[in-house]
Amino acid sequence: MTEAVTIARDGEIAIVTIDNPPVNAMSFHVREPLMAALTALRDDASVAGIVLACAGRTFVAGADITEFGKPMQKPELRDLIAALETLGKPAVAAIHGTALGGGLELALGCHFRVAEASAKLGLPEVKLGILPGGGGTVRLPRLVGPLKALDMIVSGTPISAKDALANGLVDALVDGDLVAKAAAFAREQVKSGKQPVAVRDRNELVESADLAAVDARATELARKARGLEAPIACAEAVRNALTLPFDEALTREREVFAKLVAGDQSKAQRHLFFAEREAAKVPGVGKDVKPREIARVGIIGAGTMGGGIAMAFVNGGIPVTLLEMNREALDRGLATIEKNYAISVSRGSLTEEAKAGRMAAFTPSTDYADLADCDLIIEAVFEEMSVKKDVFGKIEAVAKPGAILATNTSYLDVNEIAASTGRPQDFLGLHFFSPANVMKLLEIVRGAKTAPDVLATALAVGKKIGKVPVVVGVCHGFVGNRMLGARGAETEPLLLEGATPQQVDNVFTDFGWPMGPFQMWDLAGLDIGWRNRKAQGKTAVIADTLCERGHFGQKTGRGVYLYESGSRTPTPDPEVAALIEEKAKQLGIDRREISSQEIIERTFYPLINEGAKILEEGIAARASDIDIVWVNGYGFPIGKGGPMFWASLEGYGKIVERLDYWYARTGKDIFKPAELLRKAAETGKLAEAA
Ligand code: 3HC
Ligand code: NAI
Repeated sequence: MTEAVTIARDGEIAIVTIDNPPVNAMSFHVREPLMAALTALRDDASVAGIVLACAGRTFVAGADITEFGKPMQKPELRDLIAALETLGKPAVAAIHGTALGGGLELALGCHFRVAEASAKLGLPEVKLGILPGGGGTVRLPRLVGPLKALDMIVSGTPISAKDALANGLVDALVDGDLVAKAAAFAREQVKSGKQPVAVRDRNELVESADLAAVDARATELARKARGLEAPIACAEAVRNALTLPFDEALTREREVFAKLVAGDQSKAQRHLFFAEREAAKVPGVGKDVKPREIARVGIIGAGTMGGGIAMAFVNGGIPVTLLEMNREALDRGLATIEKNYAISVSRGSLTEEAKAGRMAAFTPSTDYADLADCDLIIEAVFEEMSVKKDVFGKIEAVAKPGAILATNTSYLDVNEIAASTGRPQDFLGLHFFSPANVMKLLEIVRGAKTAPDVLATALAVGKKIGKVPVVVGVCHGFVGNRMLGARGAETEPLLLEGATPQQVDNVFTDFGWPMGPFQMWDLAGLDIGWRNRKAQGKTAVIADTLCERGHFGQKTGRGVYLYESGSRTPTPDPEVAALIEEKAKQLGIDRREISSQEIIERTFYPLINEGAKILEEGIAARASDIDIVWVNGYGFPIGKGGPMFWASLEGYGKIVERLDYWYARTGKDIFKPAELLRKAAETGKLAEAA
């Protein structure tokens, strides 16, 4: 027996402990000795019951995802679960940390489950583009009922131990020594003399299920799936658990699992799982680099971004000193924050008491001296270099030594602002996305002189407040907005040449984006881009004319689309169609039929091309970091794994060939293929810059 599984004795109860750091995944080197242990214990007459527990920080967090896509070595998880069910003596799972996926399925193979109150239990497989493949869809409904099981399996969100107790998923919550208490629980079961009943034989809840209610819920959930196969497969599997004999439902689950795990969507979602963890590993920031402590954050500017950023920190448990130019601006900012929390209260996601607690965590101020005790100070004032430099001059005069200074600029040169402070080693960009209290992405902009422990701190604090941080380099627009520029450059020309706004938007939504670029313009407000263009001396014929007419989008009931009486549903506007025709004529453009493929080639291909240029320049450390930026900040469909992963599916050769075509035709830089992409077309692999 290897040390991944050990057996100890507590009288007549055997304690089986899995020890496979870091998360006790069910790797082959665990499954094999676990099977041997269960077989030995089944045959050992001196053992009356068993406790299945884990060493380290968590119960089994799932199957070993790194084994997916390779031939599965026996024994499989389901063999272990069958061995537990046929043990002939009570088996009790002792759960701490997280029992997820195959981990929860293993626990469902036990006759009983006891858990620490802080434990979480769930079947998150859907987030990896698969469904539970170890009987989870068939056993969970037998304990918690089909509707609760449907919610858990289709959302993938774990539930608390308390919720699990209330719903029959765990049998007892324990305080103190989990394993000893689980052994005592097992002893009680032995003493009762009752034959333990396996979950597979507990049929009451599935037999009494209201199939119509299950179908209605499944339809509702499927509507939100937006092109993803896994949520729909999960819902079907739960239905099978109600309508098919146990073993047949199990076989069906396994078949669908095998199909999904081999598909592109699951590959994409597994890629994102590892990509997110990889993004936390930053070149030059080793594990030995200790983050600085962040007990209080100062934020300058309580506008759209400052207010949202402040909420993100307070929601993450870090108090904020919020500073504005004057009392009026401060009150306006605080009123917006309070309104946002009130919405959460009205939706039931926050209590009045919690709201009061959050509001109390803000210290409003108009005096820079109040920033003296802040460990991190973030500037979110107007996007103007002179204003930013002036603000940092004032911050520097009061900030304590070692305080980290950050700018939320979207486009300005972070190195230039850093140099103006005299503390460039303590300086970096923290680029949040709007609404900052909701959006997960945080671009951490590494300046030329940013110290490694400053980056480590930004990564740690970003994770603490629930963000997905990605370290990027300095350039105009960093990773996300720079690529967005490349994706959007051809949207207006496409209209002028013959496409309609709805045609372009449909190509985007069919691909899986939550909305298309024109719907996005209308949502964000066309006036924002108009103001920016005017500041930069740029024009956009269609968008500028719409703005001149006062058609700013949803907020004015009219933009690229019409929004009838306050509705958010866009309908095509004949006036816009006429405007496009008119402008095309003025510009001497002959409008023609534009295919969906052309729209893809002139929007998504430049997006990928710019990503490759960003990699070439070392602005992003890896292609997967770019994918994380796009999935978490811009709604790139997760089932496609981010732009750089999708490029590998689309084919580098095909992309380069079409970029060459469009470059020859238009001479536009966005189409000039990056060298890295050309090389990828030859080698089949997108290499990172050295
Ligand atoms: N398989 C392989 N490696 C895993 C893993 C898994 N199931 N879960 C986590 N890891 C690895 C991570 O990649 C990471 O590796 P690294 O240190 O080399 O980057 C390391 O374990 C630590 O993970 P985290 O950084 O995520 O640690 P946290 O403490 O932040 O989170 C966790 C712990 C909540 C357990 C989180 O890792 C997690 O959500 N894991 C995935 C859970 C999951 O999806 N389970 C279902 C798997 S599919 C399945 O079980 C199929 C079955 O139905 C047949
Ligand atoms: P905003 O106009 O909503 O808010 C700016 C706030 O800063 C205002 O409340 C203003 O009173 C305050 N302010 C201006 N000068 C100040 C000074 N000298 N001292 C104290 N407060 C001052 O602007 P928004 O949208 O919040 O943008 C702020 C920054 O965030 C900009 O650099 C912008 O580029 C960046 N950003 C904006 C995003 C967005 O979607 N709006 C997304 C990401 C970054």
